[in-house]
Amino acid sequence: MSKSSTRILQVGAEIYPLVKTGGLGDVMGALPSALERLGLAVRLLLPGYPALRKPLTNVSLVCRLGPAFGAASVQVLLGRLPGIDVPVYLIDAPSLYDRPGNPYVDGSGEGWNDNPQRFGLLGWVAAYLALGDIDPAWRPQLVHGHDWHAGLAAAYLALHPHTDCRTVFTVHNLAFHGLFPQTLLPVLQLPESSFSSDGLEFHGEGSMIKAGLHYADAITTVSPSYAREIQTTAFGCGLEGVITQRRAQLHGILNGVDYTVWNSTTDPRLEAHFDAAHPEMKAAAKGALQRQLGLRVDPGAMLIGVVSRLTSQKGIDLLLEVLPRLLVENVQLALLGSGDAELEAACRALAAAAPGQVQVSFAYDETLAHRIIAGVDVIAVPSRFEPCGLTQLYGLRYGSLPLVHRVGGLADTVVDADDKALAADTATGFVFNAPTTQALEQAVRRALALYRQPDRWKQVVCRAMVQDFSWDGAAVAYADLYRRLLEAKPVRLTKRP
Ligand code: ADP
Ligand code: GLC
Repeated sequence: MSKSSTRILQVGAEIYPLVKTGGLGDVMGALPSALERLGLAVRLLLPGYPALRKPLTNVSLVCRLGPAFGAASVQVLLGRLPGIDVPVYLIDAPSLYDRPGNPYVDGSGEGWNDNPQRFGLLGWVAAYLALGDIDPAWRPQLVHGHDWHAGLAAAYLALHPHTDCRTVFTVHNLAFHGLFPQTLLPVLQLPESSFSSDGLEFHGEGSMIKAGLHYADAITTVSPSYAREIQTTAFGCGLEGVITQRRAQLHGILNGVDYTVWNSTTDPRLEAHFDAAHPEMKAAAKGALQRQLGLRVDPGAMLIGVVSRLTSQKGIDLLLEVLPRLLVENVQLALLGSGDAELEAACRALAAAAPGQVQVSFAYDETLAHRIIAGVDVIAVPSRFEPCGLTQLYGLRYGSLPLVHRVGGLADTVVDADDKALAADTATGFVFNAPTTQALEQAVRRALALYRQPDRWKQVVCRAMVQDFSWDGAAVAYADLYRRLLEAKPVRLTKRP
């Protein structure tokens, strides 16, 4: 098998910089290029949201399908997207994808009723591309689906009698399942036989994430620790059984950082640039941020940043509970997030009680996200679970020390500033062991104590800034997995129901 001829289709529901709700978008925007740099022939398949359909250039129509999945007409287009190095297939089905708001939910935050059809079609087109029926000029040898939105691709392929295409399914977040009622099986073109506990059925409903977990040739998740955690009841979201059964096919591959986007030396969204060789200008980024947000401009205040979806996963409630006790110290908070209404209200209340010291913004704002991550002293990620987490990795590069719960990818990427690590000059942040207010408060107090020793703080900041989490390592791990799958004999027909 020559590497250059290996055709890989990446399938997902969002992509930075055009459609992004979180880290999945960052991954979809960076991994394909990193794989291509290794000599693989990579293409993407994405839903044709207007935000992708409009900027698509060099467009060719590769296939026109009849009515399918509730859409009167479906076309598959091939073209190029700005900022994306690899060719992109888009599913052009306006009645399914031309919606306001984000890809998954309506204006009130409710999932669209026809999400099973919208993302079932994504998996179906991926499978039929692999079967050669949609674009005979380019048939992927391996389909790599991301999260529940692409979970059915593996099922369609495994249930088809004539395919040698291999499948990889990556879990970015096990909490989202993509459930659908049994009555939709015919609409989704799935056989009744697939609706069993030894298939895609999950407590009486169909589950797109379980389809991926059950039918893919290999499963990956986005950090080694999360790969272990999801085999337990505490983190398995009810899917620990199927995951444990398939643990021989489960791999933890840590996400990378796109250092062309997240780079303190070159970031065009910043007024001041800095790095480990020139850390002085970080103070200018902090001052600019304090001014922009109306925080007291005080170089001596320890400024904590949060850039996050506001959901219970992220543990922001813990931070909000702890902060009032810490505000008597010279601590500030800059928070950018959106999500849960109750959490937003709690953030607002804290900001109102501490003007000049706590500032909160509820928006999705890429520029402010960069400025916060660059300008703060500490980036807090107190998540209850975190499959990988990217903000702590961005914080490292910008010398904003991550303060994180020892869980998932957070545990795999941050070295706690305990005495031993400080002495060995390996410390890069603050790690606490339990998702409790006590543990979090203690970690913030440890950060504060170190912050008051500027030389030691600077040493940790410089160590953090030289950490290398580039995509190259992850891409090699994926490429190696693809190679092993493609070299192995297919096991599909003996393994599946
Ligand atoms: P998750 O995918 O669980 O939300 P990650 O840490 O993997 O968490 O990725 C979050 C990504 O979303 C990062 O790129 C972060 O900067 C970005 N992000 C989160 N909230 C916001 C926001 N309100 N505005 C801009 N970017 C945000
Ligand atoms: C998910 C996870 C996050 C991860 C991201 C990208 O949204 O919550 O931990 O970094 O996917 O893999």
